[in-house]
Amino acid sequence: MVKDSLKIVDQRTNAEFEVPISKGTIRAMDLRQIKTGPDDFGMMTYDPAFMNTASCQSAITFIDGDKGILRYRGYPIEQLAEKCTFLEVAYLILHGELPTETQLQNWVKEITYHTMLHETTKRFLEGFRYDAHPMGMFISTVAALSTVYPDARNIHDPEKRRLQIARLIGKVPTIAAYTYRHSLGYPYVYPENDFTYSENFMNMLWRMTEPKYKPNPALSRALDILFILHADHEQNCSANVMRAVGSSQADPFVSVAAAAAALSGPLHGGANEEVLKMLDEIGSKDRVPAYIETVKAGHGKLMGFGHRIYKNYDPRARIIKWAADQVFAATGKNPKLEIALELERIALEDEYFIKRKLYPNVDFYSGIIYQALGFKPDMFTVLFAIPRTVGWLAQWQEMLEDPEQKIARPRQIYTGYAQRDFVPIEKRTEKTLTAKH
Ligand code: CMC
Repeated sequence: MVKDSLKIVDQRTNAEFEVPISKGTIRAMDLRQIKTGPDDFGMMTYDPAFMNTASCQSAITFIDGDKGILRYRGYPIEQLAEKCTFLEVAYLILHGELPTETQLQNWVKEITYHTMLHETTKRFLEGFRYDAHPMGMFISTVAALSTVYPDARNIHDPEKRRLQIARLIGKVPTIAAYTYRHSLGYPYVYPENDFTYSENFMNMLWRMTEPKYKPNPALSRALDILFILHADHEQNCSANVMRAVGSSQADPFVSVAAAAAALSGPLHGGANEEVLKMLDEIGSKDRVPAYIETVKAGHGKLMGFGHRIYKNYDPRARIIKWAADQVFAATGKNPKLEIALELERIALEDEYFIKRKLYPNVDFYSGIIYQALGFKPDMFTVLFAIPRTVGWLAQWQEMLEDPEQKIARPRQIYTGYAQRDFVPIEKRTEKTLTAKH
């Protein structure tokens, strides 16, 4: 019979250890017993960038990167994108089950009644420079909500947590829309309760002097689908930040702000903005082969390509490509689509990309749709942050309810000086200070 354990022989001491295997994993703490003597701290694992370390057990999102599968709570992303609204999926991600009709009505009402921002928060936003990056405004304003809701610190009370979750999901589109209006110098538009989540967002973004904004149903559905696709993606960089900051028992507003800061980087959610810059730089379809050659020669990366987990086509990119057609039918084609399709075609036939299993990721086509919808590239990551707030909050809640979780605190391998004596300032020279390092 196959035994669910790992037998380890420490060749330094010839000692043998048996370490249990559960779900294809061994516990790092089980290695601590492997010592060369009583003074030895015990064996650790070294895993920069968490390439092969599970930091938690999670029941929220499943990804099979080799097969290109993404599921929320067991439901395939393709089915959810086709059949659900964003708030229905948000309920599923946070509560573990799809809502009944009544549960959904109550949930939508709960979120809708939390879309307003306090007037002082609005004035806080007004203080940003006219050319402030929307993501910087978004991160700072979400963090500032922590000062408006001091009860958010009570993270151990499930009812209070539920309230902050509703506040955050309700308010992030309002903050996002205000950052957009701010950068254009337009007055802010207050939320309206008779719209859906996406329609209300469009209303706050684009309503001008008309008495009632009329959202285009094809565009609001496309936006809803984009929100569904971006809602969660298991232990990515920003989810990991959400869990790490939340593990210190910081409140959810500052924790979401920290996660959004992680998202803003060009290797994570900032990639969609970079894709548009790249397509602008390429300029036309005939210049694609030359651009790919420069990437292969090591000058930069093909933005929107590659993924730590997906070594196959990102299923979200496939759905986005489909949604793009619906948007372009309403708005007219974005000429950058032609360049993007050519980039994808050539890259997927090229040995460099095939060998490294580099496929288009979610950010490759999302920017092209966002631009067709009328957004400037610097808004793209904010559009990613709105739905991802749901995922961050679900990860945070799961972490708080997990009895095995504690404050996140990795180990290190110390590589600095063992010990040295203090040198008075008058005796310090660059040579003496760096001599032994
Ligand atoms: N273009 C060209 N080469 C690439 C690319 C790319 N986009 N991505 C990876 N490579 C190469 C990389 O240079 C390396 O080559 P070699 O083995 O010769 O050194 C190999 O592929 C493995 O790459 P890696 O950097 O070790 O992979 P990683 O898992 O650490 O990085 C990634 C994943 C997403 C950061 C990376 O693929 C990347 O920088 N892509 C471009 C940015 C991007 O599109 N990010 C969005 C990710 S999806 C949405 C999200 O997370 O928010």
